[in-house]
Amino acid sequence: MKVLVTGVCGFIGSHLSERLLAEGFEVIGVDSYLDYYSRQIKQNNIKLLINSPGFNFIEANLLDLDLAPIIDQVDGVFHQAAIAGVRASWGVNFNEYINNNIQATQLLLEACKEKDLKRFVYASSSSIYGNAEELPIKESSPANPVSPYDVSKLAAVHLTSLYSLSYGVPGVSLRYFTVYGPRQRPDMAFHKFIRAIIHGDTIEIYGTGEQTRDFTFIEDVIEANINVFKNGRNGEVYNIGGNETMTVGRVLEKLIALSPARIKTEVDPARLRPSDVTEQIPCCDKFKKITGWEPRIPFDQTLSDTLNYWRDFFGVKQ
Ligand code: UGA
Repeated sequence: MKVLVTGVCGFIGSHLSERLLAEGFEVIGVDSYLDYYSRQIKQNNIKLLINSPGFNFIEANLLDLDLAPIIDQVDGVFHQAAIAGVRASWGVNFNEYINNNIQATQLLLEACKEKDLKRFVYASSSSIYGNAEELPIKESSPANPVSPYDVSKLAAVHLTSLYSLSYGVPGVSLRYFTVYGPRQRPDMAFHKFIRAIIHGDTIEIYGTGEQTRDFTFIEDVIEANINVFKNGRNGEVYNIGGNETMTVGRVLEKLIALSPARIKTEVDPARLRPSDVTEQIPCCDKFKKITGWEPRIPFDQTLSDTLNYWRDFFGVKQ
């Protein structure tokens, strides 16, 4: 089987492609190196992939690419490419979110129309639920976007379901709950906290640190993608969460406990915007029932590996 992975140089796209190659898939990886974060980090993410047999890399933006000949060659699509960032999506920046998250998805789905694909997997986001009134959050819980980023991700989910219904594109959307692990994006909490610990900088906690997240380890997310490729149902949306919900403050305590140095933290209530979701607990039963998948990696087991990955990355001795 041959698949297209968009956003291949990103956190999830690069891990997913490594796993797909290991499973015997051929992969065409596309990435435009959007400048939301550094090209160097993204190049580092694909350093194992780039010379692997069965991997072909195309540097291009989906908006500029002739997609039809690529789709003709593949059996499936994992659409990870997006401009990320909940907090950066306001103001004039929203144009970028319309182009890269909505327009690019629609063009890709157009190219997939009436093609004999096995699966089109869209990387959606739990943040579209906003501050849910009922917990745990089910796929049937109302969408309540609290940032323009959420609006763009939700629009792309609707497009994926719509093209499934109208044109038989075998689309499913996975709603990831705050994915963490090696290669996590530099704007996300884990990466920022660990970077600060390694460099002795001050850690900024938005709000009181009492906001909860269901942190999901990257390996569980990759496993979910492999499962959905085989067993997903067209037009469906699935929650993909971790196995422990925790406050941001608790995560920080755990990271600090692993570090010998004294860590400075600064609580900044003003940085907690209305666009910051305060409580997230997912229900992942729908996906489990269909595929048997469940998150398997215990939170504590991942922390020292994640910390060591970044120590290596920054060239800092343990
Ligand atoms: C993340 C990603 O940024 C989105 O791309 C993704 O769609 C979303 O998860 C999701 O899974 O739905 P977020 O949950 O806000 O969004 O993830 P982080 O940036 O890792 O933030 C986690 C928590 O830490 C937030 O409550 C945030 O306020 C807090 N935080 C973040 C801090 O206290 N300090 C920081 O320096 C950064």
